[in-house]
Amino acid sequence: MKLVVLLVFLLFSFGHSYTNFIHLLGYALNAGILTTYNTTNVNGCGTECALTTNCTAFQIIHATGECNLLTMLRNYYFDSSQCEYYLKRSPGVTVTNRTLTSDMDVVFQNAVYDSQGPCPLGWTILTNVCYLNVPKNTCYEFAPFLEPRYDFACMIPLMIVDYNCPESTYKLGNYTDGHFCIKVIPKWSDDAVLGNMKPYDFANQYCYNQTGGYLASIHSKAENNDINTIQQNLEETNPGVMIGLIANSSSLANTDDMYWLDGTGISYTNYAGNSKSDVFTYTLMTLNGQWKITMDSTVAKTLFKYIACKQNAVATMTKKH
Ligand SMILES: *[C@@H]1O[C@H](CO)[C@@H](O)[C@H](O)[C@H]1NC(C)=O
Ligand SMILES: *[C@@H]1O[C@H](CO)[C@@H](O)[C@H](O)[C@H]1NC(C)=O
Ligand SMILES: *[C@@H]1O[C@H](CO)[C@@H](O)[C@H](O)[C@H]1NC(C)=O
Ligand SMILES: *[C@@H]1O[C@H](CO)[C@@H](O)[C@H](O)[C@H]1NC(C)=O
Ligand SMILES: *[C@@H]1O[C@H](CO)[C@@H](O)[C@H](O)[C@H]1NC(C)=O
Ligand SMILES: *[C@@H]1O[C@H](CO)[C@@H](O)[C@H](O)[C@H]1NC(C)=O
Repeated sequence: MKLVVLLVFLLFSFGHSYTNFIHLLGYALNAGILTTYNTTNVNGCGTECALTTNCTAFQIIHATGECNLLTMLRNYYFDSSQCEYYLKRSPGVTVTNRTLTSDMDVVFQNAVYDSQGPCPLGWTILTNVCYLNVPKNTCYEFAPFLEPRYDFACMIPLMIVDYNCPESTYKLGNYTDGHFCIKVIPKWSDDAVLGNMKPYDFANQYCYNQTGGYLASIHSKAENNDINTIQQNLEETNPGVMIGLIANSSSLANTDDMYWLDGTGISYTNYAGNSKSDVFTYTLMTLNGQWKITMDSTVAKTLFKYIACKQNAVATMTKKH
């Protein structure tokens, strides 16, 4: 009998935010449980996982209406009847001299190294290894390709990580939210047809088509400065750069209604001074690096010239000996 491996990509949307999960058909995950919720709603469970720190997978048990948020992934195993598990689609990680034999290995390893650090989440960095204090049998539950070995505690190789962008036109940055590649691109041509799409949704798609990234979220002063530095060197004299901070209504009561299109939480802000107008169209970074969130739509159209796009860096890991 021929076994068919099915990985189904799901895009969860909550508000206007997106997070990718892979629906594993025919596989179960061996992982730690972070929290359990009562819900039969896959989308609700996915949203919880997306917004919960350290959640890299979830399981929805339809029979009992339970949703388990999973963390510290150990391994996956084949089980033809399984369809309860969803795995986060994490940024790409390559380990030098490690040959993975299936797509499932690849997406699993990416999720294990979701933070793209020298050790997976929850492991301790020692001089030459990643260390985890668990019993021997738990240690050997980790996928063999992660190279677990037990010597009074569990150990896997410590990685030396090299971060890269698709090409030199991207700015590689190490920020509080991770390693990212940023590229600021000119807005679409005037004859583009947006149909009934919001300009920021269109920009998000345009970023993906042009750069492989998404409309940028900003989580630190360093990240803001990097985008602003690129902006200050653009050809246009007063180039408004669109960023992914949005409101779900055009009438904005206050800044509490703002959120990042990519689903990340708000951890840093740099709003332009009070504008009496309360019309939200999209957010533009102004030449001094501040975020203009309210402006008349005609003004917005005149200022908007560029789009800031952002994607995870690709991590290449080499085992430290
Ligand atoms: C979830 O469901 C279980 C079983 O029906 C119940 O015992 C538990 O109290 C529920 N938890 C919450 C938070 O509603
Ligand atoms: C990878 O494997 C080759 C051949 O076995 C070896 O020469 C090389 O040193 C290895 N590289 C690393 C980074 O371990
Ligand atoms: C995430 O995991 C790390 C490592 O186990 C832990 O230190 C941190 O407290 C966790 N954060 C949350 C919000 O659970
Ligand atoms: C990234 O920044 C953090 C915090 O400043 C630092 O600890 C880490 O070494 C940096 N990583 C790289 C690869 O430069
Ligand atoms: C992005 O590319 C897809 C596929 O080619 C196309 O259908 C879509 O209109 C493009 N969107 C934008 C905003 O360029
Ligand atoms: C708008 O977004 C806020 C924050 O995400 C949310 O609480 C509110 O329900 C949303 N309103 C609408 C009309 O979608």
